Amino acid sequence: MIRTNLTKTLKLTASAALIMGAANAATADSNVEVMHWWTSGGEAKALDVLKADLESKGISWSDMPIAGGGGDNANTVLRARVTAGNPPTAAQMLGYAILDWANVDGALGNLNAAAAKENWDAVVPKALQKFAKHDGNWISAPVNIHSTNWMWFNKSALDAVGGKAPTTWEEFVAVLDGMKANGITPLAHGGQAWQEATIFDAVALSLGDDFYTSAFIDLDPAALGGAKMLEAFNRMAKLRSYVDDNFSGRDWNLASAMVIEGKAGVQLMGDWAKGEFLNAGQVPGKDFVCVRFPGTQGAVTFNADQFAMFNVSDDKKASQLAMASSVLSPEFQSAFNVVKGSVPARTDVSDAAFDDCGKKGIADLAEANSAGRLYGSMAHGHAAPDAIKGALYDVVTAHFNGEYSSEEAVQELVAAIDAAK
Ligand code: GAL
Repeated sequence: MIRTNLTKTLKLTASAALIMGAANAATADSNVEVMHWWTSGGEAKALDVLKADLESKGISWSDMPIAGGGGDNANTVLRARVTAGNPPTAAQMLGYAILDWANVDGALGNLNAAAAKENWDAVVPKALQKFAKHDGNWISAPVNIHSTNWMWFNKSALDAVGGKAPTTWEEFVAVLDGMKANGITPLAHGGQAWQEATIFDAVALSLGDDFYTSAFIDLDPAALGGAKMLEAFNRMAKLRSYVDDNFSGRDWNLASAMVIEGKAGVQLMGDWAKGEFLNAGQVPGKDFVCVRFPGTQGAVTFNADQFAMFNVSDDKKASQLAMASSVLSPEFQSAFNVVKGSVPARTDVSDAAFDDCGKKGIADLAEANSAGRLYGSMAHGHAAPDAIKGALYDVVTAHFNGEYSSEEAVQELVAAIDAAK
């Protein structure tokens, strides 16, 4: 339903922008205006790698940062910009949101020239192409692959409870209890819907690949309303008992800082969290420990940041294509992702420059992909369209904040997803 509205609202505006674009084709504009939500310390550092790369190629950068992890705020601002007939050159975007824009006639540009020249079809994983291409045309440039089923431990805090990273739910609960007894906040958490949903990805995956797939990808009402979903909500309620009193509204990077500073034991977050640890000068294995959420080693819930390219005026198209080429170059993919915490969006990039967590991320991704255990992240827009994601956010966050019992949350989830379909 939301997609249809978006399509109707934007169709005319986008066509108008197209006509204006053709009329303005006179002189080339070497500037790109880029909308994104990379505003934390680690994210900003990664973005600097991109800005410097483009500047070295004579392309200047107009920054359009919209704070808000997960990108919900950015999406809202983007709609307003496009509706006003003034799209940015490129916008950071996730999964199904890209396809929503692709369904708006004339909204997105075409990157086929860059893709053909550099053979993106052969090197970009199919799981990403699903969102980067529409009707056979490349519409966006994948920057990275993140995944959500990670845990980030403070090494000293983990050592103080025996030093072994938990691999089962029961072991995890014992570790969290031990941290509580040691007087620190066990779980560093920011109370925002997308952060709760990020944890929910991992909790659901830990209850089985079949469960994750049938609930989040197939949206099967039996799985959404079944015993495993009840268990997932019960586990979320248990995790809620390990957060501090001030968790509401906290940004994710401030939760990372609690772990970095040893005020908290662990954060359950995608691997963009690693960017914060690195930015604070911390070293994997020495200061922090990265492991998969208990019971999920071997499977990966992924989200890939992409720069969706808008249908800009003709004078801007050359720099747009040059930006897309830069983003997909093997050198940039290595340099950027080393800093960002993610792994390359192409299969042919060496892991040599990556730290131990990055090497693990690359190996885990390859293993999950070849085992058929690579799944789109529900929390980050790669499992189901955004209307479904939003419905899930509402229920998961209401439950986390005590508005629903686990039993009620299961019922609400079935109803909310049914209504959003
Ligand atoms: C994700 C995005 C990451 C990171 C994170 C927190 O959705 O894929 O790159 O930015 O949000 O802002």
